[in-house]
Amino acid sequence: MSKRVLITGGAGFIGSHVADLLLSSGYSVRVLDALTSQVHRDGAPPIYLNSEVELIVGDVRNESDVERALVGADIVIHLAAAVGVGQSMYEIVSYTSANDLGTAVLMQAIAARPVEKLVCASSMSVYGEGLASRNGGDEIAPQQRSIEQLRRGVWEVLDNDGAPLNPLPTPESKSPSLSSIYALGKYNQERQCLIVGSAYGIPTVALRFFNVYGPRQSLSNPYTGVLSIFASRLLNDRTPLIFEDGNQCRDFVHVQDVARACKLALECRDGVNEVYNIGSGERRTINSVAIDLARVTDRPHIAPCVTGKYRAGDIRHCFADITKARNQLGYAPKVDFDTGLRELAEWLTGQAATDSVEAATRELENRGLVA
Ligand code: UD1
Repeated sequence: MSKRVLITGGAGFIGSHVADLLLSSGYSVRVLDALTSQVHRDGAPPIYLNSEVELIVGDVRNESDVERALVGADIVIHLAAAVGVGQSMYEIVSYTSANDLGTAVLMQAIAARPVEKLVCASSMSVYGEGLASRNGGDEIAPQQRSIEQLRRGVWEVLDNDGAPLNPLPTPESKSPSLSSIYALGKYNQERQCLIVGSAYGIPTVALRFFNVYGPRQSLSNPYTGVLSIFASRLLNDRTPLIFEDGNQCRDFVHVQDVARACKLALECRDGVNEVYNIGSGERRTINSVAIDLARVTDRPHIAPCVTGKYRAGDIRHCFADITKARNQLGYAPKVDFDTGLRELAEWLTGQAATDSVEAATRELENRGLVA
């Protein structure tokens, strides 16, 4: 009989791709998802959700929903989370409730009814600023930039002598530096899963996702990733708005590569009770991705607009060292960036335009979180 996998948050962007991959590999898939209206506008199951998924509409904070979802489940992939970094800074109670308490309720139920394997979605946000080196070459874990520095428009991370640091790929060994309620909650989720997993003998793997992009990323969620925001602006012939100077770096990983990483994590025999970076292993600046997107959407004349504004809590550079996932999970990103961008633009073409990103930016501005 096929193994049954419970995916919490499985109607979302990442979870729905994981569901497709697992179903096509012979697993049976159950999803527990609250279908929150910020992500699923009308509160209805998304049309992209695979029809073979057994959907339970419910909340990870609700014990009876969780217990019902766990009946007969062999494996759990815990993806359910509230995911807006900026929003987490003013909806502190609801983020802590959904992410920290939600995971606690799930762990309580799993402790009473252990599963064969637990995979948990963590985030690059736990690192804060990525690893860097001084000019002399020694590695350091940089401090977060101060608001005072950002107000002066000095964007780079500086050493104590005021010299800019060189960003390096960040390995899992870099110690966490939690700079938002979202990051704190993700670290809490990851630790809860690893602590309960090791206490109850449940092989557990936590995956620290970098900037995930691809089809199905919710456009109705104003706190969605930068690539979806830029692509939807370009498709509406509007210029992408860039915070800081656009030279900040990220690691964009395609959602299908992330889905493959989840499958590798649930099937791996070694490497349990460990955390792994899941990125592309490539660094890109925000300026360069705006230009790449303009090219693939046939709008090379629309140049990005560098606003010089900044978001409180944003990090300057973080991109993944994926050596550990390569060596221990056999993870190898496959989707080439240009192909991924084209696919994203194609998908967004079929979606309704939205202004919710601008409204969300105003919300942050009103609270002094964008300046
Ligand atoms: C954050 C989290 C990450 C989370 C992701 C989605 C951190 C360090 N990372 O990533 O864990 O998964 O949000 O919730 O907290 N930008 C613009 N213009 C825009 C939008 C964004 O220039 O219209 C810039 C941002 O200032 C940032 C970069 O693009 O420098 C990436 O932003 P975003 O896609 O929101 O993701 P992160 O903040 O990297």
